[in-house]
Amino acid sequence: MFEQRLTMNSTINALVTGGAGFIGSHLVDRLLADGAAVTVLDNFSTGKHENLVPHDKLQVVAGDVGDYATVERLAQGMTWIFHEAAVASVPATIDDPVGSHQTNYVGTLNVLEAARKHRVQRVMFAASAAAYGDLPEIPKTETMAVKPLSPYAVDKLASEYICRVYHQLYGVETVCLRYFNVFGPRQDPSSPYSGVISVFTDRVSKGQAPTIFGDGEQTRDFVYVADVVAANIQAATVAGIGGETFNIANQRQTSLNELLRQVCAVYGKNLQPGYDAPRAGDIKHSLADTGKARNILQWQPKVGLQQGLQALIDSLRGA
Ligand code: NAD
Ligand code: UD1
Repeated sequence: MFEQRLTMNSTINALVTGGAGFIGSHLVDRLLADGAAVTVLDNFSTGKHENLVPHDKLQVVAGDVGDYATVERLAQGMTWIFHEAAVASVPATIDDPVGSHQTNYVGTLNVLEAARKHRVQRVMFAASAAAYGDLPEIPKTETMAVKPLSPYAVDKLASEYICRVYHQLYGVETVCLRYFNVFGPRQDPSSPYSGVISVFTDRVSKGQAPTIFGDGEQTRDFVYVADVVAANIQAATVAGIGGETFNIANQRQTSLNELLRQVCAVYGKNLQPGYDAPRAGDIKHSLADTGKARNILQWQPKVGLQQGLQALIDSLRGA
């Protein structure tokens, strides 16, 4: 198993949409560390300036991926585009299906069209395990049936389809990475829609009992953000994978009840959760088969849930 360590020269230019967000900002760090020149396009709806450390090869543009003219201008001269910008919360898209579609689908189309026009070498798209919905068969392989249950999932899946169509029709090299539930430092816990690990760690650190929606026996496949970044680098650099889709996950299934036990254990606290009604559009079980990524992307996750939780909590404590 090998992982690319890029020895980039100044000819690598990368556009990261959503680069001020949780996953995007870690990707920016990695690209800069490897020597690329990076442009971030972000509307700062959930992204933060403090996620980005000033760097002489970093340009940050405040703008909207739903605005084609902006995307087209920034795509000029790019080697790669990593398209991370999205309304990333499932419930937020249920509240605002029309507004979120403008980002979550039209934004993707804009990125692809701009990539076509400026002959960008490859586009990496942040797709989602949400595409699989609640069909019972697990673990999920990329060829299994899909069943989106939310506007979020529909737009992510439609974005995958248009990525493939741009590859087939126009030869734009696209790689879709179906992230499962990503966690790590900089995931913002402050919104009611925030990712569950950021919410649980925030509440437990303050000695407050978290709320579990449903019975807590729903499961997720949690993958650490550094592994997701590594998958993106592989997706950009492995030859001959245009038009492909890969699951990016840990291949481990954890219930929310078990997750809370683990978070409490790292903090040395014993908190009982409150239970509330299940969320609309929530999927019950999620578990990936990551064999395709292992074989073709030459990628596998390196950080397990426990190790990732420890690293996250150390970073929150400023260790
Ligand atoms: P995030 O909210 O931290 O990052 C999204 C970024 O996109 C933010 O910086 C936000 O300000 C920006 N953005 C939103 N709308 C925009 C617009 N119209 N124009 C420009 N920028 C815009 O979320 P994240 O968890 O880092 O997610 C990154 C990507 O990964 C998203 O596409 C998300 O759907 C996808 N994804 C995330 C997970 C996960 O578990 N976090 C899992 C699967 C897929
Ligand atoms: C997450 C991502 C989504 C991604 C998908 C891929 C976020 C905000 N969402 O969606 O972008 O495409 O994974 O699998 O990163 N829950 C609680 N209590 C809480 C918060 C959540 O019980 O305080 C539950 C939810 O009801 C759900 C589970 O935890 O059952 C996970 O929720 P969440 O972290 O919001 O992620 P997903 O909806 O799985």
